Amino acid sequence: MKRGLFLTLEGGEGAGKSSVITLLEEKLVEMGHEVLVTREPGGVEIAEKIRHIILDTAHVKMDGRTEALLYAAARRQHLVEKVLPALEEGKIVLCDRFVDSSLAYQGYARGLGIEQVLSINMFAIQDCLPDVTLYLDVDPKVGLARIHSNDEREINRLDLEGMKFHEQVRAGYEQVVEQYPERILRIDANQSLENVLEQIISSLVQTGKF
Ligand code: TMP
Repeated sequence: MKRGLFLTLEGGEGAGKSSVITLLEEKLVEMGHEVLVTREPGGVEIAEKIRHIILDTAHVKMDGRTEALLYAAARRQHLVEKVLPALEEGKIVLCDRFVDSSLAYQGYARGLGIEQVLSINMFAIQDCLPDVTLYLDVDPKVGLARIHSNDEREINRLDLEGMKFHEQVRAGYEQVVEQYPERILRIDANQSLENVLEQIISSLVQTGKF
């Protein structure tokens, strides 16, 4: 069976994923690939509704495990309805966040345990891990300053967490990168967008998959 390539982007708040995805999509199309851009949580109607529940700033009472299960449920629906069909059509799927976000945010920063969160996610994704993951590593101080200077960006429930939480998210990603050194490429995202894109293209070319 012909299969496309599943490429995910990860990072803390303000890492610049959205800008990178737009430029990366252009670049991949220029290289002759068919590309589907999508995001988590969301990307299809049912998952967008779950996103709304998770990120509502009024839902301060949400329990950590409830949060982890909702992310996994949104992930499942998005995977079967959108990602897998596009991969079967041979496309490159460029997805803004996937399972590593749950490992870093819920598993590590919320303290639920990376292995525990991985196990509920394995039920949801049935071993369908990305082919390549770009982790945009940014100092939370730089990332949060970017968010607050961008008036168009909607502030969600997780943005309201303090600096300590965002530092924990970064530490969580470090653990996840160590766990999957073959799959995850770390990119220094403290730099300009042009520079970040250059690092991404050269790292992707080095994988030999593009
Ligand atoms: P976004 O700001 O990239 O759209 O992501 C929404 C928020 O959801 C962001 O704060 C990261 C968080 N998140 C998790 O905590 N766990 C997850 O599994 C995913 C996909 C996102």
